Amino acid sequence: MQRPVAEPYKIKAVEPLRMTTREERERAIREAGYNTFLLRSEDVYIDLLTDSGTNAMSDRQWSALMMGDEAYAGARSFYRLEEAVREIYGFKYVVPTHQGRGAEHLISRILIKPGHYVPGNMYFTTTRAHQEMQGATFVDVIIDEAHDPHSTHPFKGNVDIAKFEALIDRVGAENIPYINVALTVNMAGGQPVSMANLRAVREVCDRHGIRMWCDATRAVENAYFIKEREEGYQHKPVREILKEMMSYYDGCTMSGKKDCLVNIGGFLAMNEEWILQKAREQVVIFEGMPTYGGLAGRDMEAIAQGIYEMVDDAYIAHRIHQVRYLGEQLLEAGIPIVQPIGGHAVFLDAKAFLPHLTQDQFPAQALAAALYVDSGVRAMERGIVSAGRDPKTGENIYPKLELVRLTIPRRVYTDRHMDVVAWSVKQLWQHRESIPGLRMVYEPPTLRFFTARFEPIR
Ligand code: F0G
Repeated sequence: MQRPVAEPYKIKAVEPLRMTTREERERAIREAGYNTFLLRSEDVYIDLLTDSGTNAMSDRQWSALMMGDEAYAGARSFYRLEEAVREIYGFKYVVPTHQGRGAEHLISRILIKPGHYVPGNMYFTTTRAHQEMQGATFVDVIIDEAHDPHSTHPFKGNVDIAKFEALIDRVGAENIPYINVALTVNMAGGQPVSMANLRAVREVCDRHGIRMWCDATRAVENAYFIKEREEGYQHKPVREILKEMMSYYDGCTMSGKKDCLVNIGGFLAMNEEWILQKAREQVVIFEGMPTYGGLAGRDMEAIAQGIYEMVDDAYIAHRIHQVRYLGEQLLEAGIPIVQPIGGHAVFLDAKAFLPHLTQDQFPAQALAAALYVDSGVRAMERGIVSAGRDPKTGENIYPKLELVRLTIPRRVYTDRHMDVVAWSVKQLWQHRESIPGLRMVYEPPTLRFFTARFEPIR
């Protein structure tokens, strides 16, 4: 028998959880318009809405907060963050932002002109929204396997080089300011990109003079998958693998709320000085001075400390194994989930879970609501509601993947909590035919998944 992988930390402070009754949860989800984003966290037992900003900080990070230099300009905490980014990611320059989308906003403004095309390995909601706001068209160039929840390709996040080259042929390299290659790919199920693929993309970019930009939000998780799955990396520390991955890029946007083990913060990093210059000009308008970018000094201290902790091999191994521990329990019960199990979440395949619903009846939204009512576990829809509408035609986009994301916050829940989640999903699976579809009764104009409201179809 294999030695179990237990949490590589002990617990110093606890936050009590409240269990609600079924009646209370039925009322809460009705009041929330059957949208788990609109629930009050007080009414949630195990919160798997997101791994974003929900991390537990270490004792060292809490102490680092006290070291925050709150100077308006030139804060020591900024230089500590800059040093951590240089050392661990390897980029020369960094501009802090309040979170990932702040960095997406800056880079989209700097590099995109109306009429441009921005290829990416599947979309992320805020990333694509910022690209479109600058007048670009997003083009998905991920491999086909990524859209198939049953494919067990080990690197489902890979860019399809032929699709990328076909786009270059069609629109011309001069109309592609950069390719955005995310690590891991959230919407595909937390799927990684291989080192070989990064090299191949770099080679195409070099040939055509196109920049290669990284969404490095969960790059450490990607590095761990490379260590597990790619020839030649088994004995390398995750820290080294991450550095090699980043060496192929010209820069990155970063949501520190994931990998960096903090509750708020992000940054834009790059190697080119003119981009730094532009970013500094923009950041003062939208975020704050270039040495704080919308963050308090203490936040930058916590991120810097988190950057060193995130590349600890024992930490990241447990992180990935905890997600897998939940996913494997579901697989054993025959429940349809996206495979291979990803880095930050287990994704239920709502189309296969609720085959009696059409995609217009929002199966993933309905399943997330039903899970909450069953056990107080909060998950997130990642399907037709998240995909939104085509900005040109106004028609609904019908994504192939209709998923419910059970997202695991870092260092927050124990494996025992995962047992409760697995138990509840299995309960639902037993009486899945009784889960009703939904009808949308309020739709906001953009990023509708955050605030849309629904009613059950009876
Ligand atoms: N890129 C990816 C891949 C993300 O997953 C996120 C956020 C962002 C960019 C934006 O970063 O939230 O700091 O502004 N994802 C969260 C999630 C919201 O729940 O998946 P942000």
